[in-house]
Amino acid sequence: MLRRLICAAFLATALAQPAIAETVIKAGHGTTTGHPTHFALEHFAKLVGERSNGDIKIEVYPDRQLGEEREMVEGLQFGSVDMAVVSTGPLLAFSPDLAVVDLPFLFKDSDHVYRVLDGDVGSELLQTFDSRGIHGLAWWENGWRHLTAKKDISKPEDLSGLKLRTMQNPVHMAAFEKLGASAVPMVWGEVFTSLGQGVIDAQENPITVIYVNALWEVQSHLMLTGHVYGPHVALFSKMKWDSLTPEQQSIISEAAKEATTFQREKSAELEADYLAKLKENGMTVVEVDTTPFRDALRDLAASQQNIKPEMLERINAAA
Ligand code: PAF
Repeated sequence: MLRRLICAAFLATALAQPAIAETVIKAGHGTTTGHPTHFALEHFAKLVGERSNGDIKIEVYPDRQLGEEREMVEGLQFGSVDMAVVSTGPLLAFSPDLAVVDLPFLFKDSDHVYRVLDGDVGSELLQTFDSRGIHGLAWWENGWRHLTAKKDISKPEDLSGLKLRTMQNPVHMAAFEKLGASAVPMVWGEVFTSLGQGVIDAQENPITVIYVNALWEVQSHLMLTGHVYGPHVALFSKMKWDSLTPEQQSIISEAAKEATTFQREKSAELEADYLAKLKENGMTVVEVDTTPFRDALRDLAASQQNIKPEMLERINAAA
């Protein structure tokens, strides 16, 4: 009798949980396992697995295993990558409207960022991907970007002639050229070696990226410029998205929303921790008065054809 009961209980559990996930989603990102985006993707994968009773399995591929960020986004269009979380670096080639969020000194603080990205402007920008074979899922966070170099940079003149790696992003490139640097667009995978070999002198990224990539080994100074907010955009292949049932889509959308809050909290926590660790590793951290940088970039928006004044006004009004 007892044996029969145990068998029945075992059978019931086995039937309730599919042994093998029906739907596998390959999700890639361009940073390492210490970055908040990686923690958020793991959290998201857990939520989706639980809520779909194991029917959907999100496989997380960190560290550019699925390619550089641009390659991952192309993979979304071809259907070789199901999900990618990337910076806005390569995204203007897919959705030029995003250019507005790349403007330096646009956002007042993180609350302003979240109000805009979680509101109508954020949804409208995510929807612009629809016609490009991509489904925009959520705005996660890479973080406020800061400069690193082999010297102190306290004013725009200190950038003069410096070979500064930027993402392959026209707004960022135009901004640093305007500040007097020589902007060198480069994929992330080449940056550490290029800094080490002197091919480039400086770069800019959030504290979390700077720490998890051990940039203190090739850069002595971190300037807290916070010159631009860097989102991480969670994107899905539209081909894959359209193959999911409405129930599966709603599990994924809900989990992505919850992971957004998780990710931003993790980002704030890790940023404080990693800043202390960068100092411990010998990096000189410089507080910068950003006024002259802001002044030099005041008319940048007007020179960028993809920035719609109406969108800019709405973002400014939410400050
Ligand atoms: O600088 C970049 O390219 C991005 O910030 C990175 C490091 C790939 C993270 O998205």
